[in-house]
Amino acid sequence: MKKILFAASECVPFVKTGGLADVVGALPKEFDKKDWDVRVILPLYSKIPEKYRNDFQYIDNFEIGCGPLNQNKYVGLFQYEYEGITYYFIDNQEYFYQDYIYSDFHFDIKRFAFFDKAVLSVLQLIDFRPDLIHCHDWQTGLIPVYLKTEFAASPFYRGIKSIMTIHNLKFQGVWSKDYLMDVSGLTGDLFSDDKLGFYKDGNMLKGGLTYADHITTVSKNYSYEIQSKYYGENLEGLLFARNHEMTGIVNGIDYDSFDPKTDENLYKNYSVEDFRKKKYVNKQKLQKELGLEEDKHKFMIAIVSRLTDQKGLNLIEYDFERLIDDNTQLVVLGTGDYKYESMFRYFADKYPDKVSANILYSEGLSRKIYAAADAFLMPSAFEPCGLSQLIALRYGAVPIVRETGGLKETVEPFNEYEHCGVGFSFTNYNADDMLYTVNYAKKIFFEKKAAWNKIVERGMISDHSWKQSRLAYEELYNYLIG
Ligand code: ADP
Ligand code: GLC
Repeated sequence: MKKILFAASECVPFVKTGGLADVVGALPKEFDKKDWDVRVILPLYSKIPEKYRNDFQYIDNFEIGCGPLNQNKYVGLFQYEYEGITYYFIDNQEYFYQDYIYSDFHFDIKRFAFFDKAVLSVLQLIDFRPDLIHCHDWQTGLIPVYLKTEFAASPFYRGIKSIMTIHNLKFQGVWSKDYLMDVSGLTGDLFSDDKLGFYKDGNMLKGGLTYADHITTVSKNYSYEIQSKYYGENLEGLLFARNHEMTGIVNGIDYDSFDPKTDENLYKNYSVEDFRKKKYVNKQKLQKELGLEEDKHKFMIAIVSRLTDQKGLNLIEYDFERLIDDNTQLVVLGTGDYKYESMFRYFADKYPDKVSANILYSEGLSRKIYAAADAFLMPSAFEPCGLSQLIALRYGAVPIVRETGGLKETVEPFNEYEHCGVGFSFTNYNADDMLYTVNYAKKIFFEKKAAWNKIVERGMISDHSWKQSRLAYEELYNYLIG
């Protein structure tokens, strides 16, 4: 039996701000329990719904110190079984009992440095010594560092392998070297340029990328992109140097949860066999619910997204007035930067029967939107993988994307002459190219309905379950554990 521990800052169904939570929630369930024991460790946020939290089992508590600014910190440990997976939670009220999941970097760095050391410290309390710790994003970047430094002398920890997975290179956990030393307890020699040092600062993710036994990222294409200056976020040199120890493994989605045939949130369930007859009901009902003009013939474009620069929203801002016309509706669900929230609110006020801006987070509404929409717009500036376009494909909303990262890898563009493709895409980060592509999609939708429905059908049957990618992770784990 091989033992793997996932360490992360979010995970469905407990806490989610983006795709990271979907991945950490779905992937552990995919492994064959005969050969793999995959468990997950998370912070115990007060935001985790009580229906789960009330059943968490208390195991033990102790104190740890991680540097002069992070001394005598309480570590409580809880355990919970859910859908066959064992979850551990690190409890500390000062750090995880807030109204938010993430705060400013200054505070986050302190609490996640604590979390990283706590993760390793609790292992001695539980009957589970992992063969490998799979770390996700910068919040867990110090785990590989501690493993190879402070904890390396102990026989218990010796030989535990680690993987650092990059879900988003934009966020690295960067602050002054002194501060990072003071909240982690890591020694000054670790902050040289070839380790955690990053220009004048210290960088948690860089620590993980330097010390982990292997690096992965969430699509092959992104693994190539981040070795270049344009996408590398100033870590391209390190990533290029370690590229023989870096693997791109594309994300999947949970096919049990995201299934239009059984999804209880939908107005009407449908499948690839009967979407031509049933899917439109979801559009009509959503139009009614959101106060849009009720007409099943409108071309409904959806956006379900964090509203940040990453997602290419300034292209939409630039061309908004030309994107919408009498035959087109736009439904937005998202939260994020104030400028984008206000932009969508402004246009929803201006065009109430054509634009609906839902500035909130709602899992249920998101699924209604995927089911209702004809097209799903995702013109990202960069996109490590993207799960939204995969959900859209499964729900028969045709993705219109920019060819970057995982979007390029998962959305094969429609080719009118070869009768293939599952979506529409454009290459350059340019609003007019986006508009041209949306208009091309509209033309097919309105003028060649049979071809459009074939695109929908190919998308719905394309396989983006975790099956293939789970095999790739197994292979990598086996290789590293030996
Ligand atoms: P990222 O992780 O960069 O935010 P992904 O496409 O990988 O992007 O994952 C986003 C996930 O979050 C998808 O499951 C998407 O449906 C969901 N999501 C984003 N915003 C919202 C929202 N406001 N309400 C509900 N779900 C959302
Ligand atoms: C990040 C990326 C997104 C990816 C997700 C899960 O949030 O922005 O592209 O799908 O992580 O890996």
